[in-house]
Amino acid sequence: MNAIGQDIPRRHGHAKVTGNATYAYETDVDNAAYCALLQATIAKGHVTEIDITDALALPGVLTILTPGDVQKLAPVDNPELAVLQDNHIAYRGQIIGAVIADTSEIARHATELIHLSYHVDDHDSAFTADRDDLYTPKALVTGAPADTTTGDVDTAMRTAPHTIDHTYSTATNHNNPLEPHATTALWQDDTLVLWDSTQGVHAVRTDLAEVLRLRPDQVRVICPYVGGGFGAKGEPHAHVVIAALAARALPCRPVRLALTRAQMFTLVGYRPPTVQHTRLAADDTGALTAIAITSTSPTSAMREYVEHAAAPTRMMYAAPHRATRHRLAALDIAVPTWMRAPGECPGMFGPEVAIDELATALGIDPIDLRVANEPEVDPETGKPFSSRNLVACLRQGADRFGWADRAPRREGDWLVGTGVAAAVFPAFTNRATASIRYERGHYVVEIGAADLGTGAWTVLPQIAADALGVPLHLVDIGIGDTAYPYASVAGGSTGTATWGSAVLVAAETFRDKFGTDPTEGDEAEGSHDTGPFNEHYSTYAFGAQFAEVRVHADTAEIRVPRLLGVFAAGRIINPRTARSQFTGGMTMGLSMALHETSSLDPRFGHVINHDLAEYHIASCADATDVQAYWIDEEDPHVNPLGAKGIGEIGIVGTAAAIVNAAHHATGVRVRDLPLTLDKLL
Ligand code: MOS
Repeated sequence: MNAIGQDIPRRHGHAKVTGNATYAYETDVDNAAYCALLQATIAKGHVTEIDITDALALPGVLTILTPGDVQKLAPVDNPELAVLQDNHIAYRGQIIGAVIADTSEIARHATELIHLSYHVDDHDSAFTADRDDLYTPKALVTGAPADTTTGDVDTAMRTAPHTIDHTYSTATNHNNPLEPHATTALWQDDTLVLWDSTQGVHAVRTDLAEVLRLRPDQVRVICPYVGGGFGAKGEPHAHVVIAALAARALPCRPVRLALTRAQMFTLVGYRPPTVQHTRLAADDTGALTAIAITSTSPTSAMREYVEHAAAPTRMMYAAPHRATRHRLAALDIAVPTWMRAPGECPGMFGPEVAIDELATALGIDPIDLRVANEPEVDPETGKPFSSRNLVACLRQGADRFGWADRAPRREGDWLVGTGVAAAVFPAFTNRATASIRYERGHYVVEIGAADLGTGAWTVLPQIAADALGVPLHLVDIGIGDTAYPYASVAGGSTGTATWGSAVLVAAETFRDKFGTDPTEGDEAEGSHDTGPFNEHYSTYAFGAQFAEVRVHADTAEIRVPRLLGVFAAGRIINPRTARSQFTGGMTMGLSMALHETSSLDPRFGHVINHDLAEYHIASCADATDVQAYWIDEEDPHVNPLGAKGIGEIGIVGTAAAIVNAAHHATGVRVRDLPLTLDKLL
């Protein structure tokens, strides 16, 4: 009886693909009204006049929310949530009003009938890495310092026989989950119910209760299904507060609010661009003597977000002289946020291309060069790695991919090359509680977790079944509801490891209390916290990404016929959902490499290609052969489950592998994403 490790299809998979699963916007409520957002069309200043007469006169319009005309919200850490508190505008696209109407069409139309006057201030939305007002953030999101220095990189660079000193850059990328952010809000007496598309129902409850001056038990958040999030749904954004305020304005009438695709490019965060000044110094054998990176990004003047792209360089390779730095420019732009593998994803672009450049310069195979620079312990902390199987990933990947005999070749009109890059992502856990109740012969697990389409519905019962020692079909589960015990956000690749560890403890407690023959109503709880597990070890998942790239000799059209990744991510609970996480991440990495770039026009302060016609993402035709494998890795130190998290590592390193392969094919070294054909000509 071993459910863990089984290739189990997703629970509700059929309901989802047949359109029968109910998402937040589709919640079955009576007599719903619809909310449309009014957005600022200037980048900085304030609203001087707002005339809603014509909009209110439109038949079907119920009410309009305007700046200063809503309840006084509580001051909270996140200024994004302080909606409509005053007439100040901090970025173009900021919400400055909302119309509630009988239909979504009427609501949207009415927003166009609102007449606005502005006082316009000069704005500054132009990001460059050589601005003279760059500043050093206080800390990274992990609490780690913004800058680290060991030894003397400058001297090492001056004295080493081989150095790499280049600037690499990644583009602004926008999270574009299939399901846009959406909320259905309903007030029942003094209780607020939100069906919200979110990565964490408890996080939404905590934040909304605080900002609306409610007790947490007055807010219930429900979200059984999520059509993707990638970090943009990792915390509530302004529109969720608007939905709550709109519903409160209409007693007993629920309100639906769904963001348009264009609004997804303004209101819910994005991955800011990075400019990575990367330096390597090495001796004749390829042993690194220095490794250094300064990563510079923009953030919003409204709220600081640090893209911690210099962080992975701290632990990736051994070198006696090291320096990592983060610099920010605070601009009049929308607020950036987490996007799949924040920090590591962009941060493993520059250094992994630089390593490839060093390998080329030294005439050493890029895999051998990486192996030669494996650290014994975490170079930053001095702690041992709980497990580190990067070398095994590189070796197995090389075998599977056919890395040997990799001379670049020409096939007809196509130049063909191959490339490799390493991947890394931290293995953390968070806090969660699960309950298990015996009911009509079934074991009912409840936990306020979220399933972004990734498989939590499916893998948590597998974990429970094994720990209880019962067949999988006897385990039922409820997730995505604050009525269930507290669980952390589905973010940072911590979901399965955190919630699974709580389920494990709950199941063991249940067995200890009730044995193997429970009676109706028996119930037990179990919790997991980021306990002592990480104190003594440095905990990361690793991977190796391989790419084949073909470039047309005349037009420089780029194709990626093959991607292959091998990962070491601890215990894999379900190979089917795991493979889909890995290949999904790799495909998103391919998309980042070849297509994705949000163009911000500094004259206006907003992203101009704000739809999926202009913001290109990889299609099925781009991703022809994407394969993921993993090492059977046992890690007793990382958490009770031995799982490291797999949601993000698949995107890490993919773009570097593709750029390295393009260089191998053509001899042209591109250091700026996306890799478009004009850069190869
Ligand atoms: Mo992920 S960017 O931690 O939701």
